[in-house]
Formats: sequence, C-alpha cells, structure tokens
Amino acid sequence: MKILVTGGLGFIGSHVVVELLNKSYDVIVVDNLSNSTIDVLEGIRTICNKEPEFEKLDLRDKLAVSDFFVRNQDINGVIHFAASKAVGESVEDPLLYYENNINTLVYLLQELQKLPKSNLIFSSSCTVYGQADVLPITESAPVKPAESPYGNTKQVGEEIIADVCKVNSSLSAIALRYFNPIGSHHSG
Ligand SMILES: NC(=O)c1ccc[n+]([C@@H]2O[C@H](COP(=O)([O-])OP(=O)(O)OC[C@H]3O[C@@H](n4cnc5c(N)ncnc54)[C@H](O)[C@@H]3O)[C@@H](O)[C@H]2O)c1
Repeated sequence: MKILVTGGLGFIGSHVVVELLNKSYDVIVVDNLSNSTIDVLEGIRTICNKEPEFEKLDLRDKLAVSDFFVRNQDINGVIHFAASKAVGESVEDPLLYYENNINTLVYLLQELQKLPKSNLIFSSSCTVYGQADVLPITESAPVKPAESPYGNTKQVGEEIIADVCKVNSSLSAIALRYFNPIGSHHSG
C-alpha cells in the first residue's frame, strides 16, 4: 500500500509518516516547505531507519499536481495535511487561506477522481464546531458558523469533499476534526 502524505514534513504529518513507515506502508511525501524544513526528513530517517520518498511540490500549482499524479499512479490513499493553519493570519489575509486550503483541495480531488479507486483522509478542525453549546464536544455536535476564514476553509473543504463523494463512488473520504495536538515523538 502506498500512501501520499501532503504536508508530511509538518508537525502532525511528520508524526504520521513515522507511524506509517513503522507499519511498513510505502510513503511518499509532498510539501512545499512553507512551514517546515527539509531536516525533518533526516529526523524521520533517524527514528525509522528509512525515509519516505519526498518531492518538493506546491499544491497551489495545478499543473504540477496533475503531473505528480501522472508519475505516481500507484497511490492507494492520501492523507491531506498541507494547509495554512493560523486563525489570526487568516483574518488578516483571507485570500491566502482560500487559495492554500481550498484551491489545493480542489486540485487534489480533481486528480483523485481520475483514479479507478481512491481514499482520502482530510485534515479538518474542531473549529467547525464554533462556540459549542454543550461541552465536551462530541462528533454529533452541530457545525456552527465559522469564526474565521481558516475555520471556513475547513467547513467548505468538508462540504466540497461530501459533494464530490456523492457523484463519485470510486472516492472514499473521511474528515478528521482535530483538536489541538501537542507534544513530540519520544526521541524529541
Ligand atoms: N496543529 C493543530 O492544532 C491543528 C488543529 C486542527 C487541524 N489542523 C490541521 O491539520 C493539518 C496539519 O497541521 P500541522 O499542525 O501539522 O501544520 P504544519 O504547518 O506543521 O504542517 C503543514 C505542512 O503543509 C505544508 N504546506 C502548506 N501549504 C502547502 C502547499 N500549498 N503545498 C505543499 N505543502 C504545503 C507546510 O510546509 C507544512 O509542512 C492542517 O491542515 C491543519 O489545518 C491542525
């Protein structure tokens, strides 16, 4: 099984890459290094004694994304972490967030729907629950109006994926609404 991890050198992505490699998945990472550095690959190699394939790719480049999938037809699943994630920055520069979080998702889905079978895990966020009426928040809590452009990109992203899945039975997708992850691998 070959898994594409977008944003796989970032905080959550790099930890997931370690777990995938340790479970013997073949892993290919794409990242544009906008919020990570290439040394993370070295860290992954130190922990796992192997490293994933890596390609520096900006998912905002539609043609480059298409070319990547032409060269990598053997991908069985995608875990999509690549995004901009700072709530405050998204208020200051909403178009950066709509381009980096929505356009990239659309380009990815356009390529996935060309494959005979594809599987997608989308990194959504607890921000979709807004100011929840009942705590602790459960998965049945309603989605509330977004409080920032960042939050809106996650809500709209979930809706785009649901719409595409409705008309494309070869795509299976799930959105995971992460709360704030903390910590690091025990190696440090
Ligand atoms: N960290 C959190 O608290 C949190 C909470 C909820 C949801 N999320 C979501 O989880 C995902 C991962 O979060 P993280 O904390 O690991 O973020 P991160 O910034 O550490 O990792 C994201 C990675 O994506 C890359 N990237 C960004 N735009 C890209 C592009 N256009 N093309 C290619 N690569 C690109 C960055 O260089 C970075 O390595 C994001 O989608 C984020 O919105 C994070």
